[in-house]
Amino acid sequence: MLKIGVLISGRGSNLQSLIAACAASGFPAQIACVISNKAEARGLDHARAANIPALVISHRDYADRPAFEAALDAALAQHQVQLVCLAGFMRILTAWFTERWRDRLINIHPSLLPAFPGLDTHQKAIDYGSKLTGCTVHFVRAEMDHGPIILQAAVPVFPEDTEETLSARVLKAEHKAYPTALRLIADNRVNVFEERTFISDVPASDEALFSPPKL
Ligand code: GRF
Repeated sequence: MLKIGVLISGRGSNLQSLIAACAASGFPAQIACVISNKAEARGLDHARAANIPALVISHRDYADRPAFEAALDAALAQHQVQLVCLAGFMRILTAWFTERWRDRLINIHPSLLPAFPGLDTHQKAIDYGSKLTGCTVHFVRAEMDHGPIILQAAVPVFPEDTEETLSARVLKAEHKAYPTALRLIADNRVNVFEERTFISDVPASDEALFSPPKL
C-alpha cells in the first residue's frame, strides 16, 4: 500500500475522486493525511467524512515560504507519506520542496500541458480556439505546471462552450485521470528517465481523437 498525502486549498473534488478510488478494494494506495493551507477549504470535510486525518497548515502562520514548507514536510513525514498529490493546492512550492520530493510529488493541471500553464486554462483554450483540451497529471518541478507527464486525458471543446461548461467537462476527466495516474505509480509502473516518464505494460492504441469528429 502506497501511503499518499493530499494537499488542497479549496473545493476538493479531485480529493474526493482519490478518496473514492482508495476506498475500492484492491486499490494499491491509501490516503495517510490531507493537508490544507486554508481552514475553510471544503475538501477538509470530505477527508473528515472519510475518517482521514485532516490538517490545516496555514501559510499565514509562518514567516516565509521555507518555514511553511518545512511544516508541510514535517507533517507528511509524521504520517509516513510516500507520495504527495497536489489537488487544487494554490501555493507555489520552492525548489527545496520539489527537490526533496522529486518524483514523489504529483499534480493535476486542467489543460493539456505544455499548453496553457497557470490559471484560467479553460478561458484560454476557448479564446485560442483549441478544439481539444483536457487535463495533465505530472511530476512536479520547481517551474510551475512543468515536469514529466504521467497521463493526459483529452476532451473536445465545443463552439458554444463557456468557461463553466468546459471546466465541468474537463473536471469529469480529471476525476478519472488522477486515480488512474495514482494507480500506475502505486503499481510501480511509472519510471522517470531524462525528464520523461515511461509506463510499463500499456496496451497500445493508435487511434486518433478527433474534434470536430472525423467525417
Ligand atoms: C482542478 O481543476 C485542478 O486541475 C486544479 O485545481 C482544480 C482543483 O479542483 N489544479 P478541486 O479542488 O479538486 O475540486
